[in-house]
Amino acid sequence: MSADREQFGSRLGFILAAAGSAVGIGNMVGFPVAATKNGGGAFLLIYAVFVFLICLPVMLAEMSVGRHSRKDPLGAYNKLSNGEPHWKVAGWLSIITPFMIAVFYLVITVWIFGYLLHSIIGNLDMLADPNTFNDFINAPMLFVYMAFVVGIIYLILQGGVKEGIEKAAKVMMPTLFIMLIALVIFVLTLDNAMAGVEYYLVPDFSKINAGVVSAALSQAFFSLSLGMGIMITYGSYINSKADVPGAAKMVALTDTAVAFIAGLLILPAVFSFNPDTNTADLSDSSVGMIFTFLPKIFLALQATIGYMGASIVASLFFLLVFFAAITSIVSIFEVPVAALMDEKQVSRKKALGILGLLLVIMAGLASTSFGIIGFFTEFVGYAGQTKSMFDVIVDVFYDTILPLNGLLICLFVIYRWKKANFNAELDKGAPNYKSSFFEKYVDFSVGTFIPVILLLVFINTVALKYFGVALVG
Ligand code: PHE
Repeated sequence: MSADREQFGSRLGFILAAAGSAVGIGNMVGFPVAATKNGGGAFLLIYAVFVFLICLPVMLAEMSVGRHSRKDPLGAYNKLSNGEPHWKVAGWLSIITPFMIAVFYLVITVWIFGYLLHSIIGNLDMLADPNTFNDFINAPMLFVYMAFVVGIIYLILQGGVKEGIEKAAKVMMPTLFIMLIALVIFVLTLDNAMAGVEYYLVPDFSKINAGVVSAALSQAFFSLSLGMGIMITYGSYINSKADVPGAAKMVALTDTAVAFIAGLLILPAVFSFNPDTNTADLSDSSVGMIFTFLPKIFLALQATIGYMGASIVASLFFLLVFFAAITSIVSIFEVPVAALMDEKQVSRKKALGILGLLLVIMAGLASTSFGIIGFFTEFVGYAGQTKSMFDVIVDVFYDTILPLNGLLICLFVIYRWKKANFNAELDKGAPNYKSSFFEKYVDFSVGTFIPVILLLVFINTVALKYFGVALVG
């Protein structure tokens, strides 16, 4: 099986695909809003430190396990631990987690697709209406949009690694960069744009507390697509001559740059719309920001560039976010697909069919969490709050299990697979990595403080989410 395993065609293709995974909705809106609210440049600094000192080593751990084992995450844990049952649990977590994250990410991607269509057909004024979002997410039309989005994902993934994932990334990522830069240049020319830039970048260290630090770490971890089995799976598709540490650095850099640049788009737009914006007014959730706040801002542009111009800007923005979302969801869905193909020797088409159906059912149910079906809207209650099915998926898989998966891969690499094997794998294709300071840092951090930090994040999240006890922040 492993001899004819599919591979990315080039190192650039791999970097673009992995960066495509990393650059997602989190970069476009989550990061800029979090930065603005939590100390601007100060947040940025902490975020960048986390990306390079904590997330990059975890990314190397994931990629090397993938490349060495040439397997999906379940198979990788199994193979490198010689089938030890407790590591199987880690393997299972790394395929269930991405599947469940794909469920909630698909729901949001479908909304973005709908907003994109409406902006294109001239309904920007409708999108800017405060009641639209609620009606929109509860309308049957949503299921039609879902069929389209799932169709696109299917089309990309059925092409396989090189002809599907890599090709899509090679088209979508450069287009995404161009759209992003064009939009940034445009909004920076608007009145008051600089007030937004200032709000975004001027550091305010007084806003930094334990809660902000932990939020920055979670944001960085999610943004780099860690803990989801993605980098293990993509790692299994790179050839053994490729420079993995170099590629991982490029991915981390690209992801951070896109998040940073997206802030130069969102914040100036917000401040140009309302120069007196108080950052406290910015919605806490990126979802609220995309769907209720930004359409208003785009519509306001009609005063300067007309309705048509405003609609074009809105369409470009939603297309940008849609591209970012598609390359991410493709990467996350590939994980269970690869697992089914590897573990059960199922063809790619069949794996896609089975898991695609399951995804549609789950995402369909999760879509009814906002009022359509009472049972899913008020699904369970914990820590004194009623949660919908959608909320539960986000709480359990995104907030709680991601750091746990990160913790497990670190422990696995250093204490089960062993440092020497880890280093030997990374040294292949990267002659300068051997005995470098970076190598020593990666070994030390992955074996010591990174798992400790991830454990603390995990404990804190469990205490806060499920028991309502705030340990920090
Ligand atoms: N990095 C993505 C983002 O920032 C997170 C993600 C990746 C989500 C893959 C889902 C699938 O949005």
